[in-house]
Amino acid sequence: MQERLEEIRSQALEAIKSASSDKDLENIKVRVLGRKGEVTLVLKAIGKLSAEERPKVGLLANRLKKDLEAAINARKKALKDVHVSTFIPGLDPTLPGRQRRLGRLHPITQVMNQICAVFERMGFIVVQGPEVELDFYNFEALNIPPDHPARDMQDTFYIDDKVLLRTHTSPIQIRAMERQQPPIRVIAPGKVYRCDSDITHTPMFHQVEGLMVDRDVSFAGLKGVLTAFVQQIFDSNTLVRFRPSFFPFTEPSAEIDIQCVICKGKGCRICSQTGWLEVLGAGMVHPEVFRHVGYDTEEFSGFAFGLGVERIAMLKFGIDDIRLFYDNDLRFLHQF
Ligand code: DAH
Repeated sequence: MQERLEEIRSQALEAIKSASSDKDLENIKVRVLGRKGEVTLVLKAIGKLSAEERPKVGLLANRLKKDLEAAINARKKALKDVHVSTFIPGLDPTLPGRQRRLGRLHPITQVMNQICAVFERMGFIVVQGPEVELDFYNFEALNIPPDHPARDMQDTFYIDDKVLLRTHTSPIQIRAMERQQPPIRVIAPGKVYRCDSDITHTPMFHQVEGLMVDRDVSFAGLKGVLTAFVQQIFDSNTLVRFRPSFFPFTEPSAEIDIQCVICKGKGCRICSQTGWLEVLGAGMVHPEVFRHVGYDTEEFSGFAFGLGVERIAMLKFGIDDIRLFYDNDLRFLHQF
C-alpha cells in the first residue's frame, strides 16, 4: 500500500508539472483525487488492512491528498502568471522595462529664451536674419572696411567673394533698419560662424544682438537697459562696469563687465585675477551705419549691443569647456 501511494505521488507530481492549462489540472485532480480516483481507491481499501497498519496508511494517504491539492493550486497560479506572455509571442513580461526619457530644451536654447524674455519685457521685438549673409550686411554696411582684421580669411567662412556665413548677428541691425523707419527696438538671436576652435570657441556659436533707434536715445539709456539686463540674468546685486572699447559700427563703444560670478571680485583663474568678466559689447550707432540705411543722423540716435550666449551660459552654470554644449552627451544635457 505504501509503495502504491509513493507511486501515485510521483506520477501525479510529474503530470501536474507538465500540465499546460487549467483543464489539464482539473483532469489530473479527477483521476487522482476524484470519487473513483487513485487515492480514493486506496482509502477505500484501508478497511482490509490490519488494525496496526490502518492508521499509518490512512495518515500517508491524507497527507498525499493535501500535497497534491497544494501542487495543483500552485501550478494553476503559475500558469495564470505566464498567461500574459503567451498573448504576444516574444514578449517576456518578467524582463525589466525600457524607460522613456523626457526630452527638454538644450541649455543654450534655454538661456537664449531667457535673454530674449528679459528684453521683450523692456519692449524689444524679436527679429531674425539669414545665416548665409552678404558681405555687404556682415561687414560693409557696418562700417568694417575691406582691410579690417575681422575680415581675415582665418575668421570668416566665405562661400564666394560676396557671400559668407555671418560672423556675428550685427547684420540683422542693418536688415531691420532697411525695413522700417525709427522708432525701432529689436532683439535678434541666432547662430554665427567663425573659423575658430578651442575650449572657449566653437566654429558655430550663438549671439543676441540688440538695437534701439529713436529721437534722443542716449548712452545713459544704454547703461540703464544693459544694467537691468545683467541684473535679471545673473543676480540683482551683480556689479556692472562700462569700459571704453572699439567697434567699427559704434562710436563711442564700450565693453560691459560684470563682477566675477566665481570669486565675487577677489580675483581667480576664471577672471584672470581681474575680478571682472566681459559679457557684452555695445555702443552708440555710428553715423556711417545710419548713412548706409538712409537714416537722418541729425534727427535720430541709437544704441546697439551684442553678446555671446554660450559665454553667458558658461558663467551662469559654471561650465569651463564650451565643447560640452555640442558633444550631445545626455549625462551633461540632462542636468539642465
Ligand atoms: N558684433 C560684435 C561681435 O561679434 C558684438 C557687438 C559689439 C555688437 C558692439 C554690437 C555692438 O551691436 O554695439 O563681437
